[in-house]
Amino acid sequence: MSETKYRQIARVIEQRIDNGHYPVDTKLPTHRQLALELDTTPATVAKAYQLLTEKQRIASHVGRGTFVCSTGSLSDVIHPTEEDGSYNLSILQPCLHYNVAPLSRAFQQATQTLPLDLMGYTEHSGLARHRMAGVAWAKQYGLVGGCAENTLLVDGAQHGLSLLIHALTKPGDTIAVEEVTYPGIMAIAKLADRHVVGLPMDQQGVTVSGLTEVVDQYKPSLVVIVPSHQNPTGITMPVERREQIAQVIARHKVWLVEDDIYGFLNEEPIPAITNFVPEYGFHITSLSKAISPALRCGFVKVPSSQLAHIEAHIRTNIWLSSPINYAASSLLIESGEAFALAQKQKEIAQKRQRIAHDILPTAEAATSSVSQGYHLWLPLPQGWQQDRFVMEAKSRDVLISSGSYFHAQESRDHHVRLSLMAVATEEGLKKSLTILAELLAKPAETVFPF
Ligand SMILES: Cc1ncc(COP(=O)(O)O)c(C=O)c1O
Repeated sequence: MSETKYRQIARVIEQRIDNGHYPVDTKLPTHRQLALELDTTPATVAKAYQLLTEKQRIASHVGRGTFVCSTGSLSDVIHPTEEDGSYNLSILQPCLHYNVAPLSRAFQQATQTLPLDLMGYTEHSGLARHRMAGVAWAKQYGLVGGCAENTLLVDGAQHGLSLLIHALTKPGDTIAVEEVTYPGIMAIAKLADRHVVGLPMDQQGVTVSGLTEVVDQYKPSLVVIVPSHQNPTGITMPVERREQIAQVIARHKVWLVEDDIYGFLNEEPIPAITNFVPEYGFHITSLSKAISPALRCGFVKVPSSQLAHIEAHIRTNIWLSSPINYAASSLLIESGEAFALAQKQKEIAQKRQRIAHDILPTAEAATSSVSQGYHLWLPLPQGWQQDRFVMEAKSRDVLISSGSYFHAQESRDHHVRLSLMAVATEEGLKKSLTILAELLAKPAETVFPF
C-alpha cells in the first residue's frame, strides 16, 4: 500500500469534515463503502481512518462505527466572547474600552455627511486615500516601498492570508509555515486542501538553514512568516535574520507572505522582510490588534507583477472592502490618533506581561523574555497534557488555548497560549492568572488521576 495513497484518502475525508459534508457526530461510511467510492482498498481506508483517529478528527466506537469528532475548528481554540462570567484568555484583541470613544468619533466624522464615493461600488481595490492610510500605517512600523497603487484593502489580515493562499497556490500544493503558528493559517490551508510543512525555529524565529532545507525538499509554493511577536511563541525576528530569510526567498524564487499584524508592538520599527525582497514579498498589516478587530481593515502590499491577479481575486470574492470602515480608519491614521492608540495598547501589553511574569511560575521559562506582546506561550510542567490543562482551566472559568492547535506537525511539547489583553480589567487578569498558577502548582495526576 503506498503511503501517499492513504494520506490522500485521509485528506479527502478531512476536507469533507471541514466543508460540512460529514458534519460533527456523523457516522462515517464503512471501510468497504468508502473504498468503493474512492476507488481504493478497504485496507487503505482503514489506514486513513487510523491517521485521522490519531489527529483526533474522528473516533471509532466498537460495534457502532466511526464518528466525526468536534475538535479541529478555530472556535475551539479562540473563544469570541467571555462566556457566563468566565475570563477569556483565548483571544488576541486590544483592551477595547480605551478605543471606543476615538473610534465612535471617527465614525461620526466620517459619516456626518456621507459622501457618495463612500456609498457606491467604488474602485474595487479601495479609494486611493484609504490605500494611502494603509501605506502610512505600514511605513510607521517598518515597511518601505508602499504606495497607493501597490497597497490593496482587505477585510482584515485573515482575509489577506486567505486571499493570498488562494491566489498564489492551488489544491494539493505545499505551504511552508512556522513550526508553531497561528491556527488561522492552518485552518485556511486545510479548507483549501493545501498541505502545510513546518519551518524550524530558534529564539530568533525561522532559521535560515531550516528554511533552505524545507524549500529544497518540499518545494512549497508559498512561505508564511509572522516576524513580530509571533503567534504563539512571541518571538520577534531581528533585522539580520530578516535579511538572511529574504536572501533564501530570492534565491529560491518562492512567494513570501509576511503577516506583520503585531509589528506595531516592536520597541523600535524593524525593517520588514519584504523590504529586502519586494519582488517576492506580500506584506500584510491590519488594524485589528491596535484599534479594533470589528473594523476588518487590513492592507496588503503586493509585488507589481501580481497586482492585477490579486485585484481580480478581491473583486471576484468580495468586490471591495467596506469604504465606510476605511473612511473612519483613515481619519484616525491621518490625524495620528491611530498611532497613539497603538502606543497605548503597547504600554498596556508591557504592563500585563510584567503582571503575568509575577504570577505565573513557569512564565520565565517561556520565550516571553523576548516578548512584550499580547500573549504568552506557556510551557506546561512535566505530566500536564495541554488539552487536559485547558479543560481544567475551563472548569475553573478561565478560557485559554491549547498548544495542540498551533503545531504545524507532530510535537511532544505541551504548551498553552494565554492572551493577556482580552480580559477588560487588570484585576480580572490577576484573578484569572492566579487560578492558572494554582492549577500549575498541582501535580497533574492529582487533578486528573485517570
Ligand atoms: C498572526 C495573525 N494573523 C492574522 C490574524 C487575524 O487578524 P484580523 O483580525 O486582522 O483578520 C491574527 C489574529 O489573531 C493573527 O494572530
